[in-house]
Parts: sequence; C-alpha cells; structure tokens
Amino acid sequence: MCSFLSSSPLWARTWIQLVQYTLVALLLVPLATSSGDQQPLGTVTDATTKRIAIIGAGAAGSANAYNLRRLSESSQLPVDITVFERESYIGGRSTTVNAFGNPEYPVEVGGSIFVDVNYILVNASKELGLNVQSMGAAHPRAVSEDKVGIWDGEEFVFIMNDDLNWWTIAKMVWKYGLAPIRTRNLVQRTIDKFLKFYEDPIFPFESLTQAVTEVGLLDTTLSPGSAYLERNRISPDFSREMIQSSTRVNYGQNLALIHGLGAAACMSTGNAMSVKGGNWLIFDGMLKASGADVRLNQTVTSIERNPNGTLTVTSVPNGSDKEIAVFDEVVIAGPLQYSDISISPLPKHTPKEPTPFVTLHVTLFSSPHKLSPKFFGFNDTDKVPNSIITTLPKGLDLGTRPDGVGPTNFWSISTLAKVNPPSVRNEEHFVYKIFSPEQPTAEFISEILGLGDSTDNDSTIGDLPQNDISWFYEKVWHPYPYLYPRSRFDPILLAPGLWYTGGVEAFVSTMETSALMGKNIAALIFKSWEETSTGFAEDSNAGEF
Ligand SMILES: Cc1cc2nc3c(=O)[nH]c(=O)nc-3n(C[C@H](O)[C@H](O)[C@H](O)COP(=O)(O)OP(=O)(O)OC[C@H]3O[C@@H](n4cnc5c(N)ncnc54)[C@H](O)[C@@H]3O)c2cc1C
Ligand SMILES: *[C@@H]1O[C@H](CO)[C@@H](O)[C@H](O)[C@H]1NC(C)=O
Ligand SMILES: *[C@@H]1O[C@H](CO)[C@@H](O)[C@H](O)[C@H]1NC(C)=O
Ligand SMILES: *[C@@H]1O[C@H](CO)[C@@H](O)[C@H](O)[C@H]1NC(C)=O
Ligand SMILES: *[C@@H]1O[C@H](CO)[C@@H](O)[C@H](O)[C@H]1NC(C)=O
Ligand SMILES: *[C@@H]1O[C@H](CO)[C@@H](O)[C@H](O)[C@H]1NC(C)=O
Ligand SMILES: *[C@@H]1O[C@H](CO)[C@@H](O)[C@H](O)[C@H]1NC(C)=O
Repeated sequence: MCSFLSSSPLWARTWIQLVQYTLVALLLVPLATSSGDQQPLGTVTDATTKRIAIIGAGAAGSANAYNLRRLSESSQLPVDITVFERESYIGGRSTTVNAFGNPEYPVEVGGSIFVDVNYILVNASKELGLNVQSMGAAHPRAVSEDKVGIWDGEEFVFIMNDDLNWWTIAKMVWKYGLAPIRTRNLVQRTIDKFLKFYEDPIFPFESLTQAVTEVGLLDTTLSPGSAYLERNRISPDFSREMIQSSTRVNYGQNLALIHGLGAAACMSTGNAMSVKGGNWLIFDGMLKASGADVRLNQTVTSIERNPNGTLTVTSVPNGSDKEIAVFDEVVIAGPLQYSDISISPLPKHTPKEPTPFVTLHVTLFSSPHKLSPKFFGFNDTDKVPNSIITTLPKGLDLGTRPDGVGPTNFWSISTLAKVNPPSVRNEEHFVYKIFSPEQPTAEFISEILGLGDSTDNDSTIGDLPQNDISWFYEKVWHPYPYLYPRSRFDPILLAPGLWYTGGVEAFVSTMETSALMGKNIAALIFKSWEETSTGFAEDSNAGEF
C-alpha cells in the first residue's frame, strides 16, 4: 500500500531513484516550482473510571488504546480498557508469517512499509524501543543488482538499477522531462496539508468530511487520479508508467479509478521503513503499554444501547459461551462491513452503504529458481529485475473497472530475501511475494520460474514439487477499499458513545491513517467527557448522514 503514508518497497525504490535522477538532471535545467497554500480552522481538544471497549487489535484499535492510556495519565481520569479481537493475534492487517516456520525469517503478509512523515508509527517505534530498518535493509540485494522493472504484460516500459549514471539520467529526462519533479512538488504540497490533521486546530476532528475540506484536500479526493495529474501538468506517459504502477502495487487500482489523493499518497515514499521482526510489534507494544485487557479469539456479536446510556457488548470467546459486559464508550476499530456486529438501536449516523473493498491474493513462497528471463522476454543470460511492478499497456484504458489488472494478470512480484531451507541447508533459496487479483495457478508460477512443462489447469502452488517450491503461504485479504472519487466520508461518532475508525480508509487506507483515527477518537472521547463534566452537551458532533 501506499502513502504519506507508505508504499511498497519495490515501488519506493523506483521512485526515489527517479527523483534522484531528475534532480541531478535538473542541474542542467532551470526550474519553476509552485508552493503550497494553507488554511486552518476547526475544533479544540481535551477532558471516574470510564469503561471503554475497543473492537479490533489492529493499527486503529491499538493506537486508540495507547492514546487513551496517555490521556488518562495526563488528565488523571482513570480508564478501564478492554480490547476484543476475533483473531488469535494482534495486528489485524499488519501481520507476519515465518518462512519455514522459522522466526529468523519473518515476512510481512499485510501492511509492510511506512514512511518518515508517518509520525504516529515512527514515534511509537521509538517510544517502544523497536528496531526500525530502512527499506534497503528490509530488501537485501537478492538477485542481480537490485533492479526494479515496470512490466506491461508485453515488455518492460522502464527498468532501473542502483547506479546513478549519466546515461540513465539522460534517458529519464528524455522520456519524462519535468514530470518527476512536478510530481514531487505536488506530493509535498499534499503532505503539508495532510499533516494539519495532526495538529490543533484540526486535531481532534469530529467529522472527517469537514477536516478534509478544511485542510484543503477535497479537490484531491473529488477527482480521479488521471484527471488530477493531468490538471497538475504531469504527462500521461509518466502517469501511466510511474504513478499507475505505484497505485497498482499499493492499492490494486488504476489511475482512472483511484482518486487523486490516493495517487499522490502512493508517490510519498520518503525514507520508507519497516519494523524488524514485523510491523505488528508496534501494535503489540501499544497494547501492552496501554494496560488494556486484550481478549484474543473473542468475537463481538452485538452492541446494545441501555436506557441509562451505557452500551452492552456481547462477545463470544472461541469455543465458549457468550459473554456480556457494559461499557461507557465503544470503539469499532476496523471495517464495519466485515465486523458482523449487530447494533441496536440502529445508529443515527450509520454509514450509508459499505465502501467496496479490493480482493487481493498474497502468495509467498521460496524457491531455488530465479525469475525466468524467457517469461519476461529477455535472452537467457539477462537478469530479470528482482522487483516487478506493473501497468497497463499504452492505449489500453480499463476506465473505472475494479477488475483492472489487465494483460499482466498480477500486480507485482518481488524478491524479498535469500534463505536456507531446513531441508537443504546448504542451498540458497529466494523468497518471493506475489500480489494478484486471483489465486495464481501452478502454471503461472512454473512459467515465471521457467520450470517448463506445466501441470493440469486447476492446480495451484501447493501442487508443485517441493524441490521447486520449498515453502509457500497463501492469504486472501480485503486489504483496502476502492478509492473512488468522493467528497463525503463515513461518520466518526455513530451514536452517543459509539465510535468508528473505518471512515478514514476511503480517504487513504494505511497503518498510519488508521492509527491516526484511533488517536483522534481517543482525544474526542476525553473531550466529550470534559464537556459533559463541565455541562456541555455530549452529542454535539460528528456524522454527516
Ligand atoms: C497485503 C496488504 C498490504 C498492505 N500494505 C501496506 C503498506 O505497505 N503500508 C501501510 O501503511 N498499509 C498497508 N496496508 C494497509 C494496512 O495494513 C491497513 O490499512 C491497516 O493495517 C488497517 O488497520 P485497522 O486497525 O484499521 O484495521 P485491521 O487491521 O483490519 O484491524 C481490525 C481488527 O478488528 C478485528 N475484528 C473485526 N471484527 C471483529 C469483531 N466482530 N470482534 C472482534 N474483532 C473483530 C479484526 O480481526 C482485525 O484484527 C496493506 C494491507 C494489506 C492487506
Ligand atoms: C486462540 O486460538 C488459537 C487456536 O485457534 C490458539 O492457538 C491460541 O492459543 C488462542 N489464544 C488465546 C489467547 O486464547
Ligand atoms: C513525534 O515526535 C516528535 C519529536 O518528539 C514531536 O515533535 C511530534 O509532535 C510527535 N508527533 C506525533 C504525531 O506524535
Ligand atoms: C446501566 O444499565 C445497564 C443495563 O441495564 C446496567 O447493567 C448498568 O449497571 C447501568 N449502569 C449504570 C452506571 O447505571
Ligand atoms: C478455537 O476454535 C478452534 C476451532 O473451533 C479450536 O480448534 C481451538 O482449539 C480453539 N482454541 C481455543 C483457545 O479455544
Ligand atoms: C537477445 O540477443 C540477440 C542476439 O544477441 C539480440 O539481437 C537481442 O536484441 C537480444 N534481446 C534482448 C531482449 O536483449
Ligand atoms: C488446460 O486448458 C487448455 C485451454 O485453456 C486446454 O487446451 C488444455 O487441454 C487443458 N489441460 C488440461 C490438462 O486440462
């Protein structure tokens, strides 16, 4: 996924190089840039053992708990936090698996990268004493010279490697002119606006729709990426090859579909990093620091409002009878449509209709084989880029179709690491990650590895021999919503005492934005208590429906 937010490592590498190339090139070219604009506005902050239930132990729920505890400490208002999580692990869509079950080889299956302006994640990593590694370290030079290629199903439209030579620079400028620099400036202006979400007077915000408007980002969420980039004079070739390959690897969406902010977010890749051992360690650390009672394997099934204003939460621990508990505040910290919670009475500010989500197959595997030069149209001796991102071929416009993968049939393939499988300790195998809209067939895997004769048509990676595929792991996600252009976002306060983090995902869906929403709601909860205790009405807030 992308963003100010974050980006997939393979893509980030391409982008950073591109900007470097162009910057060097521009020593030769005079340049005019435009600067950002600004506009403040908004609301102000702050706040008996209060009981809070958080449903979901992902980025949003963990950041919510972490910040509730901090606010409780600074305001001396005691809180009692319970976190319900239906899965057996902390992290939600941020989680790792270990290749060969070996903890020395953790691989991210979900959210993998964040960037330097992701202040909540960056700061928390520091506060929690976690080991942060830059993208480069997360991506050891596995094969060839760490090349990234942009593949359109027929050919590589661009390939980059690490050495910044004058020939490559000349090629870049010849091909894209000022587009990389214009893009960089556009992204910087967007980040500057986004960062206002973190500060007074915008933070904490009761309405995302209003906050987006006040920071001046509405025009970016209102138009499709293609139109937005065109309006900012970024050439169609650069948009299709460089930016669209990023929106595809990060969000599985083409530029005609994804809104301008989503596209800009994908180009924000400054100092991409990840936590050594797994990004979920941030959320685990936040929950530990919060002192919350974390109930794993416990699914919330309903939330009911009581006559005295409290909320009754019914949950089912794995394999036992249902449990009932009463809370003052309940935070739904994940997409409502996949939570299967019945809420009664139906909240006044229920999200209108669920935002459709992408379906993504993540396939991880290890193999002694390198990517096949033949499959990618190279001669036998050539080395295939170890990271392959994709775009649509020139002239093919799939419009706003959600199934827009096009002729490549996959979004990305990346070589992550070299490992020694336990079965053949002296052998070096490569770990690969494929993002695709469908489950890859055994035939496809065989082809990209150059294994010759394929098996029957309905076989999958698990049917391939172990000496070709030494380990694999398949996961299907609803990773993020389709970022269709929009001007309104789901409410934050669904009903008195009932809060929702998920609206932010249609704005930009990342670990950081979810964490920001968790933090925002923690601040709003304390603010509402403060207002109640000083005689203000509690329900002055939020929804837009
Ligand atoms: C393959 C993939 C790649 C990605 N790449 C990146 C990236 O590089 N960078 C980035 O920043 N982001 C990335 N993302 C997106 C990022 O992972 C998510 O935006 C973020 O983790 C969402 O956090 P969340 O807390 O909002 O939701 P979730 O992580 O989904 O947490 C919600 C939790 O609620 C639990 N839950 C739901 N219903 C119930 C219930 N009824 N009872 C109890 N528990 C319940 C769920 O089990 C889940 O654990 C990626 C996502 C995927 C899947
Ligand atoms: C959750 O369930 C899994 C199996 O489904 C089990 O291995 C694990 O120990 C459980 N965790 C807790 C905290 O109950
Ligand atoms: C992150 O830490 C820096 C330095 O301590 C601080 O200035 C900044 O306000 C923090 N930001 C957030 C969002 O916590
Ligand atoms: C509110 O009502 C619920 C359900 O009837 C009850 O369990 C709870 O004790 C009440 N709480 C308070 C603070 O009165
Ligand atoms: C959770 O449920 C699964 C399947 O019902 C069962 O196999 C497992 O043992 C349970 N785990 C716990 C901790 O109850
Ligand atoms: C492959 O090799 C042939 C002969 O050396 C050469 O003409 C051709 O351009 C090469 N193709 C690629 C894709 O490099
Ligand atoms: C696989 O599919 C192709 C056409 O898609 C067909 O010609 C072939 O017979 C099929 N092979 C098997 C083993 O089913």
